[in-house]
Amino acid sequence: MKNVLVTGGAGFIGSNFVRYLLNTDPKIQVVNLDVLSYAGSLENLRNLSDPERHIFVQGDICDRPFVEALFRQYSIDTVVHFAAETHVDRSILGPAQFIQTNVVGTYTLLDVARTLWLNEKLLGDQPVHFHHVSTDEVFGTLRPEDPPFSEVTPYQPNSPYSASKASSDHLVRAYYHTYGLPVTITNCSNNYGPYQFPEKLVPLMILNAIEGKSLPIYGDGQQIRDWLFVEDHCEAIWRVVTKGKLGETYNVGGNNQPPNLEIVHQICTILDELKPDSPYRPHNQLLKYVTDRPGHDRRYAMNIDKIQAELGWSPKETLATGLLKTVGWYVENKEWVEAIHKQSDYQTWIDKNYATRDKGRG
Ligand code: NAD
Ligand code: TYD
Repeated sequence: MKNVLVTGGAGFIGSNFVRYLLNTDPKIQVVNLDVLSYAGSLENLRNLSDPERHIFVQGDICDRPFVEALFRQYSIDTVVHFAAETHVDRSILGPAQFIQTNVVGTYTLLDVARTLWLNEKLLGDQPVHFHHVSTDEVFGTLRPEDPPFSEVTPYQPNSPYSASKASSDHLVRAYYHTYGLPVTITNCSNNYGPYQFPEKLVPLMILNAIEGKSLPIYGDGQQIRDWLFVEDHCEAIWRVVTKGKLGETYNVGGNNQPPNLEIVHQICTILDELKPDSPYRPHNQLLKYVTDRPGHDRRYAMNIDKIQAELGWSPKETLATGLLKTVGWYVENKEWVEAIHKQSDYQTWIDKNYATRDKGRG
């Protein structure tokens, strides 16, 4: 058995990754460490294919004695680290938690791994691996004429979120170079798909449109992201963990780079077809331009040549197929939506983030 510690495995990408791992390799036991912040939910872990190989543990990655005990109890040999504060808008309104979880939390995990694996030789000579999941936002923003981000693009983070992720990436790199901790890093673009908390663009727009609420477009809606279907991302991560070169970073992107406005229009068109009786058709009548995000990065785009050439990974979903699956999932999973709304501070957040933006240009 491989004993894989997945941090943040009750969140969006982490829970998709847990499903992916359980379906991919019967010799893997997953220990899922998650604090269950507003973004994490056990609702994301229902109906796993092989629940006996999944152990959920509620706890904080910043709690060193707790993390150390977990490594010992389950003989952890692989870490796939997702746990983080992840929403740019929240980082603007309250950066402190981002520094704590993303910087101190990553440091704590790295240092426990170093102490137990390298100093104490807890697992003897058994291979060990620490994989860190990061973001394209560490590279800053691109002008229209700039080439996409590559693995050697200099870091220029612009939000408290991306600055905290950049710090964590540097720590991971330093633990490789200084102590020889066997690490890999992936920097990926915007994910979308099932189980995403509805504060991010795609699920927020889907649920608002279903409920006939306005669809808040920041600024002119011409910002560009490189959209990656979450299951493609999970496959890329595991490819890097199993076949990637230690000490290396790999960019992961979806090869889909439309402006935000186009994404929202596509969601509306899919909903028009899936819900022909909706009183809100055509759903794009709900679009509303609102005050922009401060420091809003204009364009992200990923060059994924390295992972394609070295590891043979490419995204399988196009934006059209991925969005169809995603919108369909949110339409079908009403119980999940209700449970998430009930258990989190969702409405408080919506009021806080949108009340002051709502200039009503739409
Ligand atoms: P998410 O916000 O959906 O989930 C984060 C999870 O981490 C939650 O389950 C939360 O409870 C848990 N968590 C938070 N603080 C914790 C702590 N102190 N200890 C233990 N668990 C804690 O995030 P996501 O979208 O699934 O992102 C996962 C990772 O991927 C993050 O590191 C993020 O930076 C990175 N990433 C995400 C995207 C994206 O589009 N979603 C893009 C690029 C990179
Ligand atoms: P988001 O999903 O928050 O991800 P990120 O900030 O990490 O890219 O936002 C994606 C894009 O959508 C970003 O350009 C901001 C924009 N956006 C809106 O226009 N309206 C919204 O209500 C939200 C949440 C985001």
